[in-house]
Amino acid sequence: EKGGYKHFMAKEIAEQPGILKDTLDAYVKEGRIALPGAADAALPFADLDRLTLVACGTAHYACHVAKYWFETLARLPVEIDVASEFRYRQPPLPARSMALVVSQSGETADTLAALRYVKEEGVGVGAIVNVEGSTIARESDAVIRTLAGTEIGVASTKAFTGQLMVLALLALRAAEARGTLSAAEIAGHLAALEAMPGLAHQALQLSERITEMSHALSEARDVLFLGRGAMYPLALEGALKLKEISYIHAEGYASGELKHGPIALIDRTVPVIVLAPRDALFEKTVSNMQEVMAREGRVILVTDAEGAAEAGEGVWHLVRMPALPDPIFAPLLYAIPAQLIAYHTAVAKGTDVDQPRNLAKSVTVE
Ligand code: F6R
Repeated sequence: EKGGYKHFMAKEIAEQPGILKDTLDAYVKEGRIALPGAADAALPFADLDRLTLVACGTAHYACHVAKYWFETLARLPVEIDVASEFRYRQPPLPARSMALVVSQSGETADTLAALRYVKEEGVGVGAIVNVEGSTIARESDAVIRTLAGTEIGVASTKAFTGQLMVLALLALRAAEARGTLSAAEIAGHLAALEAMPGLAHQALQLSERITEMSHALSEARDVLFLGRGAMYPLALEGALKLKEISYIHAEGYASGELKHGPIALIDRTVPVIVLAPRDALFEKTVSNMQEVMAREGRVILVTDAEGAAEAGEGVWHLVRMPALPDPIFAPLLYAIPAQLIAYHTAVAKGTDVDQPRNLAKSVTVE
């Protein structure tokens, strides 16, 4: 049932190129975004002043990435929150707004409570869920399914990238509806998404390289992840993945926040993983990285060939990623090395990768 893999998590990481492709096949027809009919009607993107995205854990980080996409591509203001805060904060929801909740299981208690709050406020709510017929799917006005299949590993991997692909398509659909991008620009972004399954397949080939590196990483007590823009939430996700399965303390930071506190932690014992595709903010991230290296911090740089040529000198380890046609969607691809780093570090430590201590797959109590 593990298909020759040692753990479900390894199998699920490897399934991602196929899932990304299935998602594109399901929701893009003849070069156009084609959501399920009911969902399209329930998502009045052209009329919205604000979109609220609510979820827990990894699904929340997918929302956090998507905030960058909706705001950049569709100029749609997005509010994000974790469901456990949102449900008790009870924020006012503007009339011209709607919410989307995101959940793999469709049973997470806090996310369900957030959905019910939005409905009570008389605002429309859609759900992006992986489990068909789940409570969250049943109670929301519109459902868009992620097509990740059954996820068994407690640490979410393929559901996350499945959520990201659906959210990327929704952001492009919103851009189309709001007229913020031309048809040619949308076609260009769609082509970049269509390239993702192939690129994800290439990224999986890094597994061996990451295995070697992870032996060294497994000795660390604390690890920092840095990213900018849409890679900032991926830094948060990378840190969550590492801590939940390897029990190494890890934190994600926006690169620009480093000098506002966390740089005090840097010495040779705290590896810093920098997630930095060659994009418009690359130089800024590199300068943060150099600040780390000037303090003897050991950097693992995850970047493409161009980024490596420009900034790879003197780093502790380099993870060379395929180049991206459209860096805005980089989190979809860089999720793979983030997952592989967590996985191989946990394997090196000998922890229970698929069933980490204290965690349950679906959190149905608050
Ligand atoms: C982390 C992880 C959790 C879930 C969270 C939400 O790897 O799996 O953080 O993402 O518990 O679960 P769902 O998506 O089922 O609502």
